[in-house]
Amino acid sequence: MLLSSIFAAAVGLSHASTSAADAHFDWDGIEPSWDLEYTPCYGELQCARLLLPLDWLKPEDTSRTVAIAIAKLPAQVDAGDEAFGGTVITNPGGPGDSGVIHMIRNGHYLQSMFDGEKRRHEILSFDPRGMFHSTPIADCYRRDQADSSLSQWQLQGFGLLGDSSTEQFRRRRAHAAAFGQRCALADKEQSYIREHMSTASVARDMLAMVDTIEELKRKEMRGGSEASRLELRSDQVKNAATEPRIQYYGTSYGTVLGNTFLSMFPGRVHRMVLDGLVVGEDYVNLEWSTNLADTTKVVEYFYQACFAARSRCALWRSSDESWGSIKARVDQLIAQLDQDPQPVAIMGGPEGVITGVEVRTAFLDPLYDPLNRHEALAKTLDDALEGNYTLLLEQLGRSRKVDVCSAPAAQEEYTWLHHANLAVNCGDGKDASGFDIAYWQSYVQRLKEISPHMGDLWAEGTFSCSGWQIRPKYHFGGPFTSPAADPGLQSGRPSAAPLLLSSLYDPVTPLRSAYRVGRGHPGSRVLVQRSVGHCAFLSSPSECTRRYIREYMAEGKLPAEGAECEPDCVPFEDCPYEKAVLPR
Ligand SMILES: *[C@@H]1O[C@H](CO)[C@@H](O)[C@H](O)[C@H]1NC(C)=O
Repeated sequence: MLLSSIFAAAVGLSHASTSAADAHFDWDGIEPSWDLEYTPCYGELQCARLLLPLDWLKPEDTSRTVAIAIAKLPAQVDAGDEAFGGTVITNPGGPGDSGVIHMIRNGHYLQSMFDGEKRRHEILSFDPRGMFHSTPIADCYRRDQADSSLSQWQLQGFGLLGDSSTEQFRRRRAHAAAFGQRCALADKEQSYIREHMSTASVARDMLAMVDTIEELKRKEMRGGSEASRLELRSDQVKNAATEPRIQYYGTSYGTVLGNTFLSMFPGRVHRMVLDGLVVGEDYVNLEWSTNLADTTKVVEYFYQACFAARSRCALWRSSDESWGSIKARVDQLIAQLDQDPQPVAIMGGPEGVITGVEVRTAFLDPLYDPLNRHEALAKTLDDALEGNYTLLLEQLGRSRKVDVCSAPAAQEEYTWLHHANLAVNCGDGKDASGFDIAYWQSYVQRLKEISPHMGDLWAEGTFSCSGWQIRPKYHFGGPFTSPAADPGLQSGRPSAAPLLLSSLYDPVTPLRSAYRVGRGHPGSRVLVQRSVGHCAFLSSPSECTRRYIREYMAEGKLPAEGAECEPDCVPFEDCPYEKAVLPR
């Protein structure tokens, strides 16, 4: 799940745009089509804009459409080659994260997870409905940078739920409702896209993609005549067993999407790898109370790794007797700043105030991605202990000059990730508009008890739904279950049970959630990667994990019960291997 964008809503990070600084591609230059027509993009990738019905309850209405932005990394062999292992569709999570950015940043890494000597895969991802390069966009500010920036600074003045009085709670709730109204106004001129952004709609999009990918493959192999495509369609109707099946890898919220697909269309699943599991029932109930079970352990791991790294960790002092000494210093700083907020003024940007929340917020991305971010976090905290908040402000995205001109954002700016996140989360979840202040107060309290460090920040996510007005037309609320797998392609059954991956300690999708999700899917297995961070994917590369994934992809074979893998890298030490990175 996407903590940072959620927290960001309250602390002002959300509009720090994800600029795909990596590269530029002119998406407007592609004409959307009902077939997959690829154009080279971003170096080695291939991009397409696939037309699909806006409303899957009225698929015959072809006048109302979405154009889904798709990016794929081709396989290292041709589709006709014996070693061609088909397409793996991936979703990076959020909801809201861009699959296109995911492919640009992690495409090769993903391919290396799935490819063995005997099998080579094409890796494909997409910007789900309403997001980034897919159209129409679900940007409540319609790309207006001024509205976006002004809202960002306004939010910072409100303060977090965690330390809010009842009065402040009321203000926050009114503000959430105002934002909900704003989005509902924008929706009218954006084809009512938010009514069609539920996970059920996206799962149905993926089913259409699977069919379209198969069509393209057969077309290429048969020389592409129209007659053969029609023949293919009638084939599919005649024999359900030959219907193409998905191979899917989803991380974080991407496991909700995968689980939804598996539960809605079990007979259309070939392979399903879910990494960093979210409990579907908890998610659609808008409870989100299972996520933080291990967050404290992940925070402590930062200090343990720092203590073990000694002088490689900026926070370490030779007088430290244990990791607890380091933690005590930072905890004291947080408490002090909450008591006595500190002013900061820098040239070239607005002045600001630093409290304990700013320090806690600095942990968010590093807790997800220790391998890439713990060293920098240690430096940021060390500076803050010395009273220098420059790095902290940078990390919070507050050192940038804010542009207050009413100019449209550039095409490569994805400024509405948080808006897309709400459209999906709030629409999938039950309607929270009637929950009263007492409910939210006790909810925040409950989450703070589970995780003193992160509970109040996490509560911001569900609270944002208190003002959301738009309900989805097409909705899946469970049950999150599937029938026993059948490798013989029996109709209505997956070809293999899902492979469930988890890091040992995950800040937002704890290991126990993997076991709980597994109970809905007979024959599924949990593979524990003994690393710390969000999903096995971001926590560390692991050759051991890859071996299991490759076996599963090739033969549908699942690990033995209790299987575990060691990570190949740990934070604060050199990692000689390629690593995954947060796709935002
Ligand atoms: C504060 O920290 C930044 C980044 O580490 C550094 O460039 C700057 O010189 C520091 N300022 C002072 C006054 O030490």
